[in-house]
Amino acid sequence: MDNVNQFPKVKFTLNNNKITYSGNPSIRLLDYLRSDLELTGTKCGCKEGECGACAVLVDGRLINSCLIAMGSLCDADVVTIEGYGKTERFAALDKAYASVSAVQCGFCIPGMMMASESILSSNPDPTEEEIRIGMSGNICRCTGYNSIVKAIGIAAKDSDQFLKDELSPRAPQTKTHPKSLNDVLKLRKNTSLIPYSGGTDLMVSGKCSEARYLFINNMEELHRISEDEKFIRFGTACTFTEVIESPLSPAILKEACEQIAAPAIRNAGTIGGNIANGSAKADSALIFMVTDSMLRLANADRERIIPIKEFYLGAGKTALEPDELIVEVLMPKLGIDNYYYKKVGARNALAISRTSFAGILDVSDGIIKNCATAFGAVIDVIIRRSDIDNMFIDKSIDEAKALKDKYLSAYDEAIQPRRGRVGIQYRKDVCMNLLKDFLVSNGI
Ligand SMILES: Cc1cc2nc3c(=O)[nH]c(=O)nc-3n(C[C@H](O)[C@H](O)[C@H](O)COP(=O)(O)OP(=O)(O)OC[C@H]3O[C@@H](n4cnc5c(N)ncnc54)[C@H](O)[C@@H]3O)c2cc1C
Ligand code: FES
Ligand code: FES
Repeated sequence: MDNVNQFPKVKFTLNNNKITYSGNPSIRLLDYLRSDLELTGTKCGCKEGECGACAVLVDGRLINSCLIAMGSLCDADVVTIEGYGKTERFAALDKAYASVSAVQCGFCIPGMMMASESILSSNPDPTEEEIRIGMSGNICRCTGYNSIVKAIGIAAKDSDQFLKDELSPRAPQTKTHPKSLNDVLKLRKNTSLIPYSGGTDLMVSGKCSEARYLFINNMEELHRISEDEKFIRFGTACTFTEVIESPLSPAILKEACEQIAAPAIRNAGTIGGNIANGSAKADSALIFMVTDSMLRLANADRERIIPIKEFYLGAGKTALEPDELIVEVLMPKLGIDNYYYKKVGARNALAISRTSFAGILDVSDGIIKNCATAFGAVIDVIIRRSDIDNMFIDKSIDEAKALKDKYLSAYDEAIQPRRGRVGIQYRKDVCMNLLKDFLVSNGI
């Protein structure tokens, strides 16, 4: 192992007890809880972030403990069902669950309870839809969900417990990392440690505990969201939830992030990881592509800013140098309000895109100032053909209508889907239909 980062001590709080962990930083929190501490209330279902049985609260947010490495927990406040079970808030939920017989085999219930707490601590009076969204990452094989949803509604109405102070802070005010960004970039240069941001891609691998990570998840610099005259600037360790909650995030990005996976994944997964994994299915990356955003990449000696389009070189291949980190995404502020976004997946929650599409039409004084489209999950990289979209620039809507057939046939030629889980023709039809819908919704 790289001696620079050899088993550093990780100090955190677990169910109100101070813990100093000095074991392998790459192992899953789930395994530490169940095997080392014998806290077996947290269940192991899929180990892939799909079932929610392993859910715990980290800094008040719902997190799948199977997808979080011990080394990422510096200064974190972790609550498991064993700690939560001692609270009056748990007692109120427990009573409500029992009142509607919401428990059968009970395997999913610890995770369900943590998800229930997560919903009610941010919203003591949720609608049924809000409850269903909050529970969307938790699978129950027995009860059929309705009674669980009902129980959460009853707990909210019949108990004032959830109006009281939160169990633990929802997020630390400042992220604390023992090293500065420059120190971390030096480590990146001098070691082969793998950058670890939210871990939701990295930890899915069965061999995650053998990997050696460079933890960047709690670096304050990488969590900033700010703006200047031209750009909204997103630190790349911002989670999808942080992006959704920021008043600076534009609607197009919020909408795409809201449709990613389920709450526990959105609370951990970051935009940096989404871009760096080089996937054409990455939902926030699609939005950064259609808005022609820029990436700030840095190593220990220099930094460079490149258009995101130049970052993607092929399937899983990017322009990131081995000593670099993606530090910031610079998203243009203007001309992105009139947008169209659709993600086509197999189900509502936890669906990876089968095809996704985003379009922007910026019209001023009847003239199209910008037209931009991007197609995700069609080929190895996100498709962004500004050469075709530019056909409409400086044209009126009527002039664009006259060019519509030429525009569509250019895309008909450009979109040549590869075979995947869904057929080529299906993907092509979906892409062309979404493109047409985008045009029609703009009067073209
Ligand atoms: C159940 C489940 C559902 C999912 N659903 C969706 C979905 O609907 N849509 C979607 O787009 N994705 C989805 N994902 C994939 C994943 O959550 C996202 O890709 C997420 O953005 C990854 O971010 P992360 O911070 O967790 O990445 P990590 O796992 O920390 O890292 C991913 C990769 O990026 C590298 N990396 C991370 N940050 C940086 C950086 N700043 N600079 C350089 N390299 C870096 C890492 O070394 C690694 O190679 C899902 C994953 C799971 C497990
Ligand atoms: S074990 Fe299924 S989400 Fe963690
Ligand atoms: S009660 Fe059996 S899995 Fe939910």
